[in-house]
Amino acid sequence: MQIQAPFELVLFGGLGDLAQRKLLPSMYFLQRDGRLTEGCIYCTTRHSMTEEEFIETVRTALRQHIPAEYLEEEQWEAFARRLKCVELDLSDVKAYNTLKKSLLSGNPNRVYYLATGSSLYTPVCEGLHASDLIQSHSKVVMEKPIGHDYESASDINAAVAEYFSESQIYRIDHYLGKETVQNLMVLRFANSLFESQWNQNYIDHIQITISEALGVEKRAGFYDHVGAMRDMFQNHLLQLLCITAMEPPAKLESDAVRDEKVKVLRALKPIIGDAITEKVVRGQYDAGVSDGQPVPRYRDEPGVEAKSLTETFVAAKVEIDNWRWAGVPFYLRTGKRLAERACEIVVHFKEIPHSIFPLQHKNTMANKLVFRLQPDEGVRLMLCEKRVGPGMSVRPMNLSLNPANHKQTRVPEAYERLLFDALTSNPTLFLRDDELLEAWRWVDPILKSWEETEQRPEPYTSGTWGPAAATLLLAKDGRLWDENS
Ligand code: BG6
Repeated sequence: MQIQAPFELVLFGGLGDLAQRKLLPSMYFLQRDGRLTEGCIYCTTRHSMTEEEFIETVRTALRQHIPAEYLEEEQWEAFARRLKCVELDLSDVKAYNTLKKSLLSGNPNRVYYLATGSSLYTPVCEGLHASDLIQSHSKVVMEKPIGHDYESASDINAAVAEYFSESQIYRIDHYLGKETVQNLMVLRFANSLFESQWNQNYIDHIQITISEALGVEKRAGFYDHVGAMRDMFQNHLLQLLCITAMEPPAKLESDAVRDEKVKVLRALKPIIGDAITEKVVRGQYDAGVSDGQPVPRYRDEPGVEAKSLTETFVAAKVEIDNWRWAGVPFYLRTGKRLAERACEIVVHFKEIPHSIFPLQHKNTMANKLVFRLQPDEGVRLMLCEKRVGPGMSVRPMNLSLNPANHKQTRVPEAYERLLFDALTSNPTLFLRDDELLEAWRWVDPILKSWEETEQRPEPYTSGTWGPAAATLLLAKDGRLWDENS
């Protein structure tokens, strides 16, 4: 399937970190895979630069973020011909005529991608409107985090809704575009095997981890005002939880899927008052060793305030108050400068009620279904089998489904899929307004309490699995985090 031609993708924040690391490389891959027809990519920037400087900046970014084997000269030249640079101060609502002059006239398939801080989303929409650049089929993609709490997110929703209808708005969460997340839906809803087990009768608990080995890198200006709760938990982690916990949608259609996700968010047990310190752990990285190299503590990173209370780690015990999940805790955690980069959803099934085999450590007896989203994507079911030889000794074994291994193909980046979906008007993997607000509604009391009490995040050594309190969070329930599953 190809994108309807001619398309126009306007990247606001077009030379920012996200555009350089993810959006432009993803568009390059879409072209390389033959999925782009005629069309242009406009990158807006505040800086004045010549066409040559702009093209060189993009080329350097692609060299950094695309493995050399995929960056062919012919493909790059074709890609460079699509690129246009537009100098624009996004907060100047009257300046958007400059953009208008660069764009095609007529009725192109046009997507405006807001890859800036969300405080600019309203001025950009106002500017587009003032220059008559919004048509009934124009689309707008909004990056997360949208707002910094419930109120600001609902203000942004309302302001953007003045200019775009809900069907034109694509709120992106790139975790939903990851191959294994799609596969989780297929495994759950295309096999009868799992559905009968997917509830509190058979599942003991579920762990969802997004760990990063990197620190804040060059993003302190953004991150120090945001922190892990707003950057990762409110969106990526809660979305993974929704896909894991939702009821089967009646159809694979955007509203049917989103209705089910909203129901999960509405059923989340609020964490308020004393429960916040009992169920949520907040951490900040200290100096340590990452990838064999000494690394500084968060507060010594360039651009971070010396007394910053911003969290770089969050873990929480989340409960869902409904029939399917009553009594099944979901342990969620995310952090920077952890022991390794990984993202996993691990479904821990209950132990067998009675063992007829020689005594085993109980963890080896309980089945686990592991969805690994990165770095190596795949699905593993841990079962028990007989150890070959005399006696009846039992050992765990893995049944493995690994997309990269059996297809021998490149696993596409999440942004490739989502950019393609936005350009072809498929909103299924994007968030609806009510989903966004429900997620904020749930995290707001936690954020407010941290702010009001000026709660200090617990330090943890870089290169470890986070603060001791995170281990304790599970230990209190007689459980352990999966660290090497
Ligand atoms: C982004 C966050 O949404 O996701 C970053 O803003 C984080 O802080 C990134 O590093 C992680 O994405 P991925 O796909 O590399 O796991």
